[in-house]
Amino acid sequence: QNKRRPLVAGNWKMNGSVELAKQMIDTLDSSNIQNVDVLVCPPFPFLSEFNGFSGSVGAQNLSEFNAGAHTGEVSATMLKSLKCDFVLVGHSERRTDNGESDALVAKKVSVALEQGLTPILCVGEPEAVRESGEFFNHIQAQIDAVVDQIGIAKFDNIVVAYEPVWAIGTGKTASPLQAQQVHEFIRQYLAELDAEVAQGLRILYGGSVKAANANELFSQPDVDGGLIGGASLEPQEFLNICLAAK
Ligand code: G3P
Repeated sequence: QNKRRPLVAGNWKMNGSVELAKQMIDTLDSSNIQNVDVLVCPPFPFLSEFNGFSGSVGAQNLSEFNAGAHTGEVSATMLKSLKCDFVLVGHSERRTDNGESDALVAKKVSVALEQGLTPILCVGEPEAVRESGEFFNHIQAQIDAVVDQIGIAKFDNIVVAYEPVWAIGTGKTASPLQAQQVHEFIRQYLAELDAEVAQGLRILYGGSVKAANANELFSQPDVDGGLIGGASLEPQEFLNICLAAK
């Protein structure tokens, strides 16, 4: 029996405005969504706009340091003070654009947990790795780095997002079967370490999710919701995706 509560998270990336924050809150607050956790992850400057929002707010990144001389960085404690509950960690764009390694991602997951934030650990393979057939190994290595750093028990307090890099912003969605295969692999792999923790772990799918394909993806047994990029910038579309997760 799957008792995991679905989570739908919007990742605005470097998009949006104060105005969009207001529209998003209006649309989501007036819809009274039941049985789905809704999360919006806007850029840092808009986080405080979400004070009083009926859903949750999260950041897209955090520093591995707690405080001090780290120009341009934002700490977990600061995010907590802005009422963030979640933080994305290791998004493929940060791995690529900012050179975040598996080890750094693992450290950030650990720092987020220490400060009481729920990290959403993003994993996923680039196109060449998908084509080579080595994607399970690639994802396993990304997960192993985090297991080594925090231990399996703490996966109780994290969320995993599977985002195949070839499906991000490309309009090329993984098929429901391709998504399910990887989600099942992640759950089974972690179940070898702790069956109960693996059973309770929420694993989100991300990559060109829209209202039109959300239902099919979210109805896969190991897909517990989504991490939405482009479509999370349109309030009505994002709401429809949230409703598809019920
Ligand atoms: O984190 C969400 C993401 O990378 C997917 O983006 O635009 O393909 O939904 P998009």
